[in-house]
Amino acid sequence: MRTGDDRAIGQASLRTLALFAAQAQVSYWVVPAARGAHVAARATRALTDWAFRTVRLHRVFLLHSTANPASCRVALDCGFPAEGTLRGHMLHADGWHDMHVHARLSTDL
Ligand SMILES: CC(C)(COP(=O)(O)OP(=O)(O)OC[C@H]1O[C@@H](n2cnc3c(N)ncnc32)[C@H](O)[C@@H]1OP(=O)(O)O)[C@@H](O)C(=O)NCCC(=O)NCCS
Repeated sequence: MRTGDDRAIGQASLRTLALFAAQAQVSYWVVPAARGAHVAARATRALTDWAFRTVRLHRVFLLHSTANPASCRVALDCGFPAEGTLRGHMLHADGWHDMHVHARLSTDL
């Protein structure tokens, strides 16, 4: 993602890509100065559409800390409904965080 002046303002990417299972995890972040314009949702929606249509994935999921309501909003805005909570799943600087799972299926299109 780049602004008109060619500086990166964030990223959205596929990670833990498992082609044999037609699944991947998506992650995103936006630099503080560029937040507030739905950049993450727009980029994640475009990336996920490409992953379904071109890579032919079946399921794309994401995880976010339950202490991160902005990321939960992004997930819902991109059409990733919440599926549940993984308890103590990820170690952050302040300790273990519970993580929400969200996912979109190609058949949700
Ligand atoms: C999460 C993140 C990517 C969102 O950035 P963004 O695309 O600029 O998102 P916006 O600021 O436009 O906000 C998107 C939505 O979240 C809401 N939101 C933003 N901050 C919020 C907060 N602290 N609490 C609740 N909702 C919040 C906005 O109101 C907006 O809601 P809407 O869709 O109903 O209008 C960005 O905050 C970030 O990079 N955070 C740090 C890294 C991170 O958390 N990455 C995700 C890890 S899973």
